[in-house]
Amino acid sequence: MIHEYDVVVVGGGIAGLYTALTAAEQCRVAVVSKVHVTRSHSVAAQGGIAASLGNEEEDHWEWHMYDTVKGSDYLADQDATEILAKEAPNAIIALEHMGVPFTRNAQGKIEQRRFGGHTRNYGEAPAKRACYVSDRTGRAIMDTLYDRCIAKGVDMYNEVFILKLLFSSNHCCGVAGYDIATCEPQVFHAKAIVLATGGCGKIYKTTSNGYASTGDGFALALDSLIPLEDMEFVQFHPTGIYGLGILISEAARGEGGVLRNGLGERFMERYAPNLKDLAPRDIISRAILTEIKEGRGVEGKDYVHLDLREIGKERLAQKLPEISFFIKTYLGIDPSETPVPVAPTCHYMMGGIPTDTEGRVLIDETGTVLPGVFAVGECACVSVHGANRLGCNSLIDLVVFGCRTGINVAKHAKEKDLPPIPQQAESIVVDKVNSLLDCSGNERVPVLREAMQRLMTEKCSVFRNGDDLGQALEEIRQLEKRCLNVGLANKSKIFNYELEEALELGNMLKTAEAIVFSALQRNESRGAHYRSDYPERNDEEWLKHTLVYMAPQGLKTAYKPIAITRFPPEKRRY
Ligand code: FUM
Repeated sequence: MIHEYDVVVVGGGIAGLYTALTAAEQCRVAVVSKVHVTRSHSVAAQGGIAASLGNEEEDHWEWHMYDTVKGSDYLADQDATEILAKEAPNAIIALEHMGVPFTRNAQGKIEQRRFGGHTRNYGEAPAKRACYVSDRTGRAIMDTLYDRCIAKGVDMYNEVFILKLLFSSNHCCGVAGYDIATCEPQVFHAKAIVLATGGCGKIYKTTSNGYASTGDGFALALDSLIPLEDMEFVQFHPTGIYGLGILISEAARGEGGVLRNGLGERFMERYAPNLKDLAPRDIISRAILTEIKEGRGVEGKDYVHLDLREIGKERLAQKLPEISFFIKTYLGIDPSETPVPVAPTCHYMMGGIPTDTEGRVLIDETGTVLPGVFAVGECACVSVHGANRLGCNSLIDLVVFGCRTGINVAKHAKEKDLPPIPQQAESIVVDKVNSLLDCSGNERVPVLREAMQRLMTEKCSVFRNGDDLGQALEEIRQLEKRCLNVGLANKSKIFNYELEEALELGNMLKTAEAIVFSALQRNESRGAHYRSDYPERNDEEWLKHTLVYMAPQGLKTAYKPIAITRFPPEKRRY
């Protein structure tokens, strides 16, 4: 079936819905999502959304920008970061006016709390900058945006898996995929396509991400010879529930929780004497793993404790109900009485599809725009997070750049005619689906997926080195070869999740290769990319963005400069 729209957004999280809602002011818009839209991973965002509203104490967008640039280890583009910090307060007001039920303070204003790396007066002390809806901030924003999109007439195509970007003379003109319920091909013919497909946490063994976070947008881009930017920067959130990876929001530390090692020491005092447990995530994740490596994990095991007892039962119930529930459900303990076992969990991709600040996809180091295709949210790299994202800056990125992308994509759609669509659009999908269903190969998806997750966790996570990365690259490439020989036990065309998982595995392996390849080239340590064989940041050689491309001979890299406007790189001290 072929559907025609002005704008088609692939992905129904906050970035996708905000873009769709904004564009729908001026044109016909559809959202296409692999899961039911309201189950997109944005709903899992817990602790808050950053903006210098100054509702609790003095704050300024310049302080927010400085913290974001410093948190990024000076890899963020400062022109984009300035937009993020400057537009954040109005973005929050816009959300409030749409109906997001923000938690209020005693004056009836939107309440704000502390989060890692957000400071007052250029690093003096933690600042209250995170607006929030208890610890269900993502859920509240998603539900509001979904209602608004429905009211605006945005069409939702749920459970459609997009497999290909379509082009007409170098102009993106649509996407092709299939209906998961029936395997019927679904082609979306449009003047503009927006990729808002989220991240890829599922390439690691332990992640805070939902099952759908399989790097589909990254793979779509690579397949279309679009580069990926800064893929070596993978964020590990310091506090995942031990063994499960489910997120315990940084808000828990913003509200007064502290990390303790097996000796009961508040070890962050040694690693970040000023911000302590509210230092940026890269620093805390490394600190936790260093404590564990040096034998100070709890009971000598590979976790530390998050001690929330000081917060008290009442405040936990009021400010952090969701995580209290998770802790009780999954660990059977009451966080107001017992410290919680935690360890770093894969959380977020700082890198992604390169864009300008209007969401246009850029295909080289000189900033050439690929007409008709846009990207926004975690799958994009505008780059406001650089080498390490601060907590709460993701949600504000989705809203600020979702709005800008929505405006620009609508403008594009109004100015352009609908380009022709390739005749073989449907058959591309039919062939791909049938070839997988027909393949009698002896490889199995869960086996290959587990091997990939183990490899990425062991050789390309918080600490890396050249030897491990070199081996990981070899092994990922072998897994990719084996993936061509996957046989499915389920040949049905009705809700065939084995088929879906096989396609997702292919996407994850491509993404994993791009991450490892980029990490292997960058011979320095910066933000979340810590090379134990190159432990120092090296601004002389590496103050630049990585671009990784798919070429006929395999992946290749190029580099592009960073936009530095206000804050020259300095040593990060917290
Ligand atoms: O810790 C958290 O609540 C996560 C927030 C974020 O990643 O921005």
